Amino acid sequence: MVVILTLFTLLFKLLSLPLQLMEFVGIYGLYKRVFPFMVYKISINYNKKMHDKKKELFSNLPEFAGPDGSVRLLEIGCGSGANFEYYPSGCKIICTDPNPHFERYLRKSLAANDHLLFEKFIVASGEDLGAVRDNSVDVVVCTLVLCSVNNTERVLEEAHRILRPGGALYFMEHVVSDPSTWTHFFQHVLQPLWYYFGDGCEVTRMTWKDLEASKFSDLKLRHIEAPLIFIIKPHILGYAVK
Ligand SMILES: C[S@@+](CC[C@H](N)C(=O)[O-])C[C@H]1O[C@@H](n2cnc3c(N)ncnc32)[C@H](O)[C@@H]1O
Repeated sequence: MVVILTLFTLLFKLLSLPLQLMEFVGIYGLYKRVFPFMVYKISINYNKKMHDKKKELFSNLPEFAGPDGSVRLLEIGCGSGANFEYYPSGCKIICTDPNPHFERYLRKSLAANDHLLFEKFIVASGEDLGAVRDNSVDVVVCTLVLCSVNNTERVLEEAHRILRPGGALYFMEHVVSDPSTWTHFFQHVLQPLWYYFGDGCEVTRMTWKDLEASKFSDLKLRHIEAPLIFIIKPHILGYAVK
């Protein structure tokens, strides 16, 4: 089985050579302009299928409100703002994403969610949120992001730094499947092409291990099979308290 897996993965790596070349010469960078539109469209379908899961995940978010009774929330890799409808009324949000071309779609989502108080959009990667003060937010949200970041450990450290003591990090991420499954096999085989389709997304990550090893004191984490296409079916979701 290992030999077949290696051969197929190699084949798909070869198929991705033109894309690697495009990345090397800088043409692939143009995809960063198209990707936000795709995420905006795909998120509509994702939210339909994951509505109950997201609703349940964010249901206890108001419990992390600050002393003034409102929640100050920062989203890492906010994309087009697919989570906004799940945040409580009066929630103050700071959006961050390294891709500035998301702002246009973010603003559309903000217009459709006037129950939120928008603070600002910061163009920054999750590994470096230096523009945000220590202990300054009640909640950090990170959904479908840890599959794409360069350094998961660093992103979790940044989330921990900016959260006030007692604040919470909410996450929902697709992860690698169990090694005994065909999903695991195809995740590894298709990864070289998926990487380019998903702007750096990796479906072979064991993100739960990074969360388990992080500095957060209380981790509530569940593995689920999401009602989505096989390659991103295995998900983890939950929250961790600082
Ligand atoms: C699949 S989209 C998910 C967007 C949004 N969080 C959602 O749930 O719909 C992945 C997002 O991660 C962002 N991203 C990629 N690398 C990142 C990094 N190093 N730090 C923070 N965000 C990153 C992308 O720009 C994109 O907005």
